[in-house]
Amino acid sequence: MTTMESLIGLVNRIQRACTVLGDYGGGDNTFSSLWEALPSVAVVGGQSSGKSSVLESIVGRDFLPRGSGIVTRRPLVLQLHKTESGQQEYAEFLHLPKRRFTDFALVRKEIQDETDRITGRTKQISNVPIHLSIYSPNVVNLTLIDLPGLTKVAVEGQPETIVEDIENMVRSYVEKPNSIILAISPANQDIATSDAIKLAREVDPSGERTFGVLTKLDLMDKGTNALEVLEGRSYRLQHPWVGIVNRSQADINKNVDMIVARRKEREYFATSPDYGHLASKMGSEYLAKLLSKHLETVIRARIPSITSLINKSIDELESEMDHLGRPIAVDAGAQLYTILELCRAFDCIFKEHLDGGRPGGDR
Ligand code: GDP
Ligand code: NA
Ligand code: MG
Repeated sequence: MTTMESLIGLVNRIQRACTVLGDYGGGDNTFSSLWEALPSVAVVGGQSSGKSSVLESIVGRDFLPRGSGIVTRRPLVLQLHKTESGQQEYAEFLHLPKRRFTDFALVRKEIQDETDRITGRTKQISNVPIHLSIYSPNVVNLTLIDLPGLTKVAVEGQPETIVEDIENMVRSYVEKPNSIILAISPANQDIATSDAIKLAREVDPSGERTFGVLTKLDLMDKGTNALEVLEGRSYRLQHPWVGIVNRSQADINKNVDMIVARRKEREYFATSPDYGHLASKMGSEYLAKLLSKHLETVIRARIPSITSLINKSIDELESEMDHLGRPIAVDAGAQLYTILELCRAFDCIFKEHLDGGRPGGDR
């Protein structure tokens, strides 16, 4: 394992610990500040722009609920953990810690059921996130947050406020300075009308934390291409635009395997007369690597502030442990204790990373 891989893994674990403690401590404490200090990637785009498809392609698995209308109605915090090749892929939900999912159709069903548990089968949205971890040799270490698609009109059965509610929820994620914005726009629509770009421009005018993704390149009118966007002339961002070709609806109906779809996407770019010269910087695999690399860089830059927040958390935990004394509820005590240990371990490891090439580090 390289140093950098373990950094993202560490941040993943702190994020989960913060969530547990956030619930335990009633929300507004050092752990929520710690969570906010940790970078993650928020996926933003209009309905049907291809958000779910991009996420599945990054994971290399088919596991997200799909359908028309607002399918994603709670934020999905998706943590990807790269495992050794040959290992079996599995998924785990934070709300079902003892269950390992190896059947990804059941992961899809659990996301749906867990969404309904909070939103009560209505078409309402909720800002309570679902936490899902996927362990696989086919992923890069990355944390992504899937958010409801931006929409312009409420449909039958939805409250009129839904359009605004979704926008506010999405904004609450992307306006945080530590949030990396994955802004998804379909190539078969004018980029000037993109909901993702509109919001990204508002919260990140300099484009330093926005990654522009252009989907549906294969659906553009014959004789046109997206070079103006992909080469950064239509809308300039600090990071390069990435073009994507996801599975079409027909591919999905035929159950085209995600790994096969990734290969077809590579072939599309490699043989494209328009995009051949950009082929090595296009596609979902490239996007995943680009994001992972960026996330590592951002985390590395934040180590000093993360470490100081962790130390504050340790102090808070220690005094809480003292305060609670005994007897305390076994569960809560054990949980606090585990997290305290985790924080101490993080502190050590982060200090090591901070020292860079110090002997004993593996870099
Ligand atoms: P979301 O609502 O943003 O999550 O969008 P989805 O990922 O569910 O995609 C909406 C529809 O567009 C589905 O039928 C996908 O198959 C299709 N789609 C998404 N990306 C592409 C693409 O790059 N090419 C083609 N041909 N279809 C795509
Ligand atoms: Na959709
Ligand atoms: Mg979707």
